[in-house]
Amino acid sequence: MNRTIKSCCSRWRRKAAGVFCAALAALAAGCGAAETEPPVLRVGVALYTQDDTFVSTIAAELERMAREEEQERGMRINLSVVDGRSNQTTQLEQVDSLIGRGCDALCVNIVDRTAAVLIDKARKADVPLIFFNRQPVAEDMLRWEHAYYVGAKAVEGGVLQGRLVLEAWQAGPALDRNGDGVLQYVMLEGEPGHQDAMLRTEYAVKTLTDAGVAVEKLASDTANWKRGQAMAKARQWLEEGMGDAIEVVFANNDDMALGAIDAFKQAEEDLPLVVGVDATAPALEAVAAGELYGTVRNDGAGIARAMLDLVLALADGSDPAGAVELEDGHYVWLPYRAVTARDLEEKTP
Ligand code: GAL
Ligand code: CA
Repeated sequence: MNRTIKSCCSRWRRKAAGVFCAALAALAAGCGAAETEPPVLRVGVALYTQDDTFVSTIAAELERMAREEEQERGMRINLSVVDGRSNQTTQLEQVDSLIGRGCDALCVNIVDRTAAVLIDKARKADVPLIFFNRQPVAEDMLRWEHAYYVGAKAVEGGVLQGRLVLEAWQAGPALDRNGDGVLQYVMLEGEPGHQDAMLRTEYAVKTLTDAGVAVEKLASDTANWKRGQAMAKARQWLEEGMGDAIEVVFANNDDMALGAIDAFKQAEEDLPLVVGVDATAPALEAVAAGELYGTVRNDGAGIARAMLDLVLALADGSDPAGAVELEDGHYVWLPYRAVTARDLEEKTP
């Protein structure tokens, strides 16, 4: 069985390596190669949904970096980006079609992390598969040597968000609005079952309790990463009269943090301390405006870079471990970084 897979892969590598030899030949021939078609690398990019701020940032970065590589390498990189519309069946059909159209590599933002069948499809077709942002089940990743995951560690995002709040709590009594020595918070959660939602929620709070801070959860609800849904939930809490009692709003991502801010502003309530994750452009504006206390940068550009480096290395027939920092042969981890107004000031001279 293993032998079959190996020989399949080396066949793929040979084919792909040919793409690069042709690229080099075309480059070496210089202007004389005008009639020569540049070699083409076809990459299928399946998004769980296009309607997601952070995920569309990754897709845009990938597109931008692919154009740069084209210039540098004298080749074409065709990205076929498809929108899974949050439906795993739709995404599986899209992957079938991308494979059928002969793509050389697949970058998949999987809808349902348990959909291992996707790995089997790619393995059978001998197409390297790079998952990103939504982490498949660890055992499934072992089903194929050319299945990879590029993303950030959810636990780390939660810990950094918790630390932001811890620092603010330790900085003085202002955060404890009612002066009871307990931190009253609400939590806006991402999609149920998503690693980032579950672990950010858990570790943000754990970071405070581990540091000895007494906390009280006033309310929590899912808002599916969405600004509009978060605004509706927060508005409901305010209508229930929680406005004065909320000292901190934890949001699993920036869009939801901004939704909470929208609700407080609309109700003309004083803003509590609000924290998000991602460091999207509108979130950084809100940090600069003093409305969002802080966020945790989710490195979308880093994810795109690592995916492209992996695709190019695999297509080149070279060892992917030489192109990216590969853990356990399958994982590329991007670090999170906390961002507050202080960090923004440091950047602007
Ligand atoms: C998270 C990100 C969210 C959302 C989600 C989608 O990492 O923080 O904003 O994009 O991924 O899977
Ligand atoms: Ca309090």
